[in-house]
Amino acid sequence: INSFKQDKILTGKRVLVSAGGTSEVIDPVRLLTNRSSGKMGTSLANAAAALGAAVTLVTTKDLPTLPAVKIDHVSSAQEMATAMANHFQQADIIIMAAAVADFRPEHTSNQKIKKQDNSTTLDLHLVQNTDILAKLGQKKNASQYVAGFAAETTNLVANAKTKLAHKNADLIIANSVDNGRGFDQPNNKVTLLTNSKQIELADQDKLTLAFEILTFIQQEQSK
Ligand code: CTP
Ligand code: CA
Repeated sequence: INSFKQDKILTGKRVLVSAGGTSEVIDPVRLLTNRSSGKMGTSLANAAAALGAAVTLVTTKDLPTLPAVKIDHVSSAQEMATAMANHFQQADIIIMAAAVADFRPEHTSNQKIKKQDNSTTLDLHLVQNTDILAKLGQKKNASQYVAGFAAETTNLVANAKTKLAHKNADLIIANSVDNGRGFDQPNNKVTLLTNSKQIELADQDKLTLAFEILTFIQQEQSK
């Protein structure tokens, strides 16, 4: 990180980032989760701190961070929603990089779910989680910049544009997750989408990418 000889372009800015996949509790020994490593969100938090911002990272993971990054550790989507709402008002730039579980088990069992003698199947009933990004997009004021990701296996740009509009975000960072690409890997290839721009960035390591994304956001926000 120190080898980046960038100006501290985010000095005075407060950046709020979410990272990692959420885990939804099924019973005391089982979770419903996903393949997100937390690398992209943690890289964004570290890059923002290196660029001079005051950073809060709401994360489900324990990856190394710069001392300047404040950590709020969460596990479930509901915990993440609460944490993001708590920090939101004090943030100038908000980036939802977390892979939030779309669904959680409707009921969490207090006891370990046992196999039944009379059945070889188990029905797990799931209910939808709150869309955190959409909620923050609705709440944002004129000076707040809200960004999210779009993980797609098909129709990357079209699907990402729909998310940009539906979630009232300023920026969607679209990445292809076909064949697990983008998840749990050092590199990522993304397209930046705003209401007026579509910029394809090079396939590069997540920290370098984080600097590029933050530089773009800083330029957009200062217009
Ligand atoms: N997101 C969120 N809360 C959710 C689900 C998603 O804040 N409950 C955020 C993600 O952090 C990401 C963006 O919304 O920044 C898009 O997530 P994605 O999974 O690509 O899209 P969804 O809106 O969940 O739609 P789908 O998974 O059906 O494509
Ligand atoms: Ca989703």
